[in-house]
Amino acid sequence: MTQQAPAPSDVSAMLRLVTGAWITQAVYAAAKLGLADLLRDGPRAASDLAEATATEPRALHRLLRTLASQGVFAEEPDGGRFRLTPLADLLRSDTPGSLRPFAIMMGEPLLWRSFGEFLYSLRTGKPAFDHVFGQPLFDYYADHPEAARIAVEGLTSRAASENMAVVAAYEFGAAQTVVDVGGGQGSLLAAILAANPQIKGVLLDKPHVVEMARPVLDSAVRTGRCTLQAGDFFAEVPPGGDLYLLKKVIHDWEDERAVAILRNIAAAMTPRARLLLVELVVPPGNAPSFAKLLDLLMMVYTGGRERTETEHRALLGEAGFELRRVIPTESTVSIVEAVRRDS
Ligand SMILES: C[S@@+](CC[C@H](N)C(=O)[O-])C[C@H]1O[C@@H](n2cnc3c(N)ncnc32)[C@H](O)[C@@H]1O
Repeated sequence: MTQQAPAPSDVSAMLRLVTGAWITQAVYAAAKLGLADLLRDGPRAASDLAEATATEPRALHRLLRTLASQGVFAEEPDGGRFRLTPLADLLRSDTPGSLRPFAIMMGEPLLWRSFGEFLYSLRTGKPAFDHVFGQPLFDYYADHPEAARIAVEGLTSRAASENMAVVAAYEFGAAQTVVDVGGGQGSLLAAILAANPQIKGVLLDKPHVVEMARPVLDSAVRTGRCTLQAGDFFAEVPPGGDLYLLKKVIHDWEDERAVAILRNIAAAMTPRARLLLVELVVPPGNAPSFAKLLDLLMMVYTGGRERTETEHRALLGEAGFELRRVIPTESTVSIVEAVRRDS
């Protein structure tokens, strides 16, 4: 019996999947070396770029040629010189919506080595990060300021388009005090305060992260519109807000820990206050979704998970909340609105 050869299109689709990590590292290297910034004023020879980045000229040419084959940079018809493309523009430091810090975060050894132990997470259900680095991710960040800086800048660069989409999709105007729990570098709170001059804000995060939020929220802090609070959301959440925000926080934690955070918020909020989870919501079925990919990262990195709408409803219910509605945004994130069940 003759076996049918696999369809060439299936073989190339599988090869793309199997080699995806190489592209991640190639984009990471270009971002780390700042190649797109060096091309800002026009095309340059690979040898010239190699000198500027202290790399070996033939090796750098090979990197540029590969990235050009993916639409990141393009080689000029005369050969040897490379220029920017719209994708390469996203790796510049000075463009609005730059993803350079995110590309760096995604290729750093911290993440790369954790994914190298993916099977550990699959066999144990525990985060590979802790196994490789000997402590949970957020404890590691507290001990390693440079790693924490790369992560906060990476998340902030990814958040730029998400924040705009969230501000456009939700009616924040009715709120008086917004408390952003685990607010990171403060870019979402800053966007909400800028769009709604009557709102006051409170940002809670770990002490080293709050310091990174200070420059972003500086003018709001100086005019008394914003308070920065260093703390631990497993211990206590600032009381008195009428709108609580948790953006990409619940996805960092398994159910028991997530419920602990939510219960602390329920205890802090006034009865009629609202809670917004800004999260990716895993869609049903086989459709491709960034949420399904990010879910794997959560598995190896923090032990958290991306959740379906049903899972969000159950989790919120466990903590005394009722899910009111899920509002999609123009970005990959959705807004899950909830109120306390006794409100
Ligand atoms: C994935 S980041 C999201 C940051 C921000 N909300 C955003 O969307 O860019 C999770 C945040 O939770 C903060 N965090 C982790 N553990 C915390 C704790 N125990 N107390 C307060 N914040 C914490 C981290 O420092 C980080 O800023």
